[in-house]
Amino acid sequence: MDTENVIHTFVEYFRDRGHRRITGSTLLPPPGDSVLFTTSGMHPLTPYVEGRPHPLGRRLVNVQRCLRTTDLDEVGDSTHLTVFEMLGTWSLGDYDGDRSIAWGHDLLVDGFGIDPGLLHATVFGGDEHCGPDTGSLRTWEERGVPVELTAEENWWSNGPTGPCGPDSEIFVWTGDTPPRSTPTGDERWVEVWNHVMMRYRRGADGSLSLLPQSNVDTGLGLERLTAVLQGKRSVFETDLFEPWMRTVPSLWPLDEPSLRLVCDHLRSAIVVIGDGVLPSNTGRGYVLRRLVRRVLTTLWRVDPSRTLGDLPGELFQHTLDHFGQCGHTGSVRTVLLDEERRFTRLLERGRRVLSQSRFSGGLTEEDYGYLHDTHGLPRDLVLGLRGGTQE
Ligand code: SER
Repeated sequence: MDTENVIHTFVEYFRDRGHRRITGSTLLPPPGDSVLFTTSGMHPLTPYVEGRPHPLGRRLVNVQRCLRTTDLDEVGDSTHLTVFEMLGTWSLGDYDGDRSIAWGHDLLVDGFGIDPGLLHATVFGGDEHCGPDTGSLRTWEERGVPVELTAEENWWSNGPTGPCGPDSEIFVWTGDTPPRSTPTGDERWVEVWNHVMMRYRRGADGSLSLLPQSNVDTGLGLERLTAVLQGKRSVFETDLFEPWMRTVPSLWPLDEPSLRLVCDHLRSAIVVIGDGVLPSNTGRGYVLRRLVRRVLTTLWRVDPSRTLGDLPGELFQHTLDHFGQCGHTGSVRTVLLDEERRFTRLLERGRRVLSQSRFSGGLTEEDYGYLHDTHGLPRDLVLGLRGGTQE
């Protein structure tokens, strides 16, 4: 099953159960939102979870692109991506979590053909603020799926305040031997789907109150599920990354973690630029700048003559088409190349300035301030140049 097929199967399954498809938003949250990027499928739906009627009704399904910088350092392993897509469903004060879990289980087993013996669930076991999620526990037990009870791992919130609630996660076993241990005890259990019983709101004083309606918010990681269904060890081996893994290794021979980082960050940078962000020293533009500079640093560590100008047009096309951002290919390439030139000039200036004798010993805070304010050299870059790396 290729990625487009996974999306189609998911969306149609929920359409058959009365859900209307909403158009996924871009990576940019609406004005007034305090976060830089959309981090989950439910993010753009927050007002509706809090009670505002949604124009398409109480049962929704969508595909939402998300960006999480918290995972930046984990990129390079087999499941983490910077930009990823979440298949999501919502019951806005309509059906309950038990029904959501039952549908989810049926879809994984009957729709996607996953061996039921390879599934494990986790459920909120209760803490000092909220009792255990007995409904989810019972539903999984009735279906013969083993359950692990946890506390904070099964409480979902999008930040210190706002909508939140207990969640139940579904894991698929990806080991070569029969399943062992529980999801928190063996990382070969890969989390694919999270069902959040979004019933509460956390106030600024830390207290929990009930939302005006009881919602269910679910999110299923598209790339992870696809990897599982295609029997691949990593998301980078799925059809979504096929053009990248076919072209990049011959262009730039790299070790496996570096190859993954380069492909993930470049693909993410293309999508971010496709959504209208330009590199800068603050906010979203800074996240983009970091992505591009991490790529260049990785490439140049081996061979400083490498350039993003060599990236095949096919990679831009494939990525922008997938995310419905067609028509931007030329301008996205121009933004990347401009950023490469800027970074090259900055590194040259940095090397020149740091070769002055006054910087030959240890650097003081005053030196860092001077290098930043007078020469535009950020601390990270200075540290990298002095440590032999360029970031
Ligand atoms: N909000 C939940 C998550 O991000 C489910 O959509 O995992």
